[in-house]
Amino acid sequence: MTRSLRVAIVGAGPAGIYAGNILNRQATEAGAEVAIDLFESLPAPYGLIRYGVAPDHPRIKGIVKSLHEMLDAGTIRLIGNVEVGKDITVDELRERYDAIIFATGALKDAPLNIPGIDLPGSYGAADFVAWYDGHPDVPREWPLEAQSIAVIGNGNVALDVARVLAKHPRDILSTDVPANVVAGLEASPVTDVHVFGRRGPGHVKFTPIELRELGEVPDVDVVVYDDDFERAANDPHAEALFASNNQVKVMTRTLNGWRKPADHDYTASRRLHLHFLHTPVEVLGSEAVEAVRFERTRPVGDGSVEGTGEFVEVPVQAVYRAVGYASSPIDGLPFDERAAVVPNAGGRVTDAAGAHLPGVYATGWIKRGPVGLIGHTKGDALETITNLMADAAAGALPAPLVDAAGGAEVFELLEEREVAFTTWQGWLALDAHERELGETFEAPEHYAGVVRERVKVVPRDEQVEISRSAALALS
Ligand SMILES: Cc1cc2nc3c(=O)[nH]c(=O)nc-3n(C[C@H](O)[C@H](O)[C@H](O)COP(=O)(O)OP(=O)(O)OC[C@H]3O[C@@H](n4cnc5c(N)ncnc54)[C@H](O)[C@@H]3O)c2cc1C
Ligand SMILES: NC(=O)c1ccc[n+]([C@@H]2O[C@H](COP(=O)([O-])OP(=O)(O)OC[C@H]3O[C@@H](n4cnc5c(N)ncnc54)[C@H](OP(=O)(O)O)[C@@H]3O)[C@@H](O)[C@H]2O)c1
Repeated sequence: MTRSLRVAIVGAGPAGIYAGNILNRQATEAGAEVAIDLFESLPAPYGLIRYGVAPDHPRIKGIVKSLHEMLDAGTIRLIGNVEVGKDITVDELRERYDAIIFATGALKDAPLNIPGIDLPGSYGAADFVAWYDGHPDVPREWPLEAQSIAVIGNGNVALDVARVLAKHPRDILSTDVPANVVAGLEASPVTDVHVFGRRGPGHVKFTPIELRELGEVPDVDVVVYDDDFERAANDPHAEALFASNNQVKVMTRTLNGWRKPADHDYTASRRLHLHFLHTPVEVLGSEAVEAVRFERTRPVGDGSVEGTGEFVEVPVQAVYRAVGYASSPIDGLPFDERAAVVPNAGGRVTDAAGAHLPGVYATGWIKRGPVGLIGHTKGDALETITNLMADAAAGALPAPLVDAAGGAEVFELLEEREVAFTTWQGWLALDAHERELGETFEAPEHYAGVVRERVKVVPRDEQVEISRSAALALS
């Protein structure tokens, strides 16, 4: 490799940050120079770790510590509050950088196409998650007025949503949730949250720790139904999974442990019900959600289920669909609508004919779809960067058309457009401000003794103002 590389990464979630870190490492090993600009549409970094991971999972949020160190090393330049495709186009990036890596993740709910799904009181999990995690682009108010709620899906997002809905607010106050979220949860009259899986207890997509955690929520009883377990019995596929997969074994045991005699006296003030072999067919209601109609299913034996022709209606006043996330297309970038990913081969973005678009790459959820844990984005990034570096070594990266070396030109372009971009210094200021809000938090009397590490700032303009005034003060 002869010349130094300029690389733009789009998306400061874990995939984008790991990609930047691995790129730095591989470039150093190859004796090459690389300058990395990390564009992020939000004023703050960390993607779904900040705006997806549940607030009562501080251990997972702790992954931010190592991502912070990667960004703090000064080798990756964060440019926040800039939406690629809108504030700066993909072509403008291609003109200025040798390579662009898209790490834009997945932000919205996958659809659940059943009648009634658009009734008032029917919500997407992604929107609710964004609300309770204080995402700046969703409404601040969330109507928590239902006593009985249905959550559709048997993945970890369904568990997060059900747990947050069922939890008493005092048990979430010590987290970083914004004040409006605490107020919303305090007003909730919920007593029963029902989670529905279309397959059996042996085919849940939960993970063991997250499932077990349900049993530890104060003043919330977990309720499961013998009938579901009996209907799921004698399924060779589930039995084979149980025998071969330790996670399935642990979770099946956890679920079985929650089975109780018919006359069991549940004493908690709230209940979290887990139902299996229910596929949703319609959300019922004239002006708002009144019930969900399910068809009971039975295992076919190959891991799938079929309808039995038996229908049940469960009265609820709200329904949350947690049936997966979906990525969004970016103007100027190919998009596979069916798989909801950027088409790619090993992270090399391809056009309609399957040919690699020179210098364009993808990593993380936008590369392989919205499944997998934060740690999995590391392996993704490694594959993408290895291919990028091989292309660089082979001289296959197109030279930039605009001389943007030194980095000032991109800032000038954004300033010309009056884009109020934020920087790493700005994030350090916002981070310190949120921690200070946590330290100075005075718990109201009914929450006496609650200590908060951080309180999130929600409005975008407030985040931008805090970030930019700190950066200006330093300049
Ligand atoms: C609700 C929820 C909870 C989760 N909890 C856990 C958990 O507890 N533990 C765990 O291991 N995994 C968890 N995951 C999975 C984990 O969040 C993902 O594996 C990971 O975040 C994917 O990383 P990513 O960088 O590809 O996407 P993201 O984290 O979504 O990051 C993408 C970034 O790109 C930015 N962006 C998007 N479009 C543009 C654009 N046009 N211009 C500029 N920037 C853009 C976004 O704002 C975002 O910051 C959870 C997922 C969800 C949905
Ligand atoms: N704490 C954590 O570690 C954590 C927290 C949240 C998310 N995550 C991760 O983030 C990723 C995304 O999670 P996710 O929960 O969004 O997705 P997921 O794991 O893919 O689960 C989606 C669920 O929706 C169900 N579903 C899909 N379409 C449906 C339909 N039409 N009708 C009824 N049910 C339907 C699926 O059922 P089938 O299985 O039958 O298809 C599945 O149970 C996962 O890898 C997850 O582990 C991790």
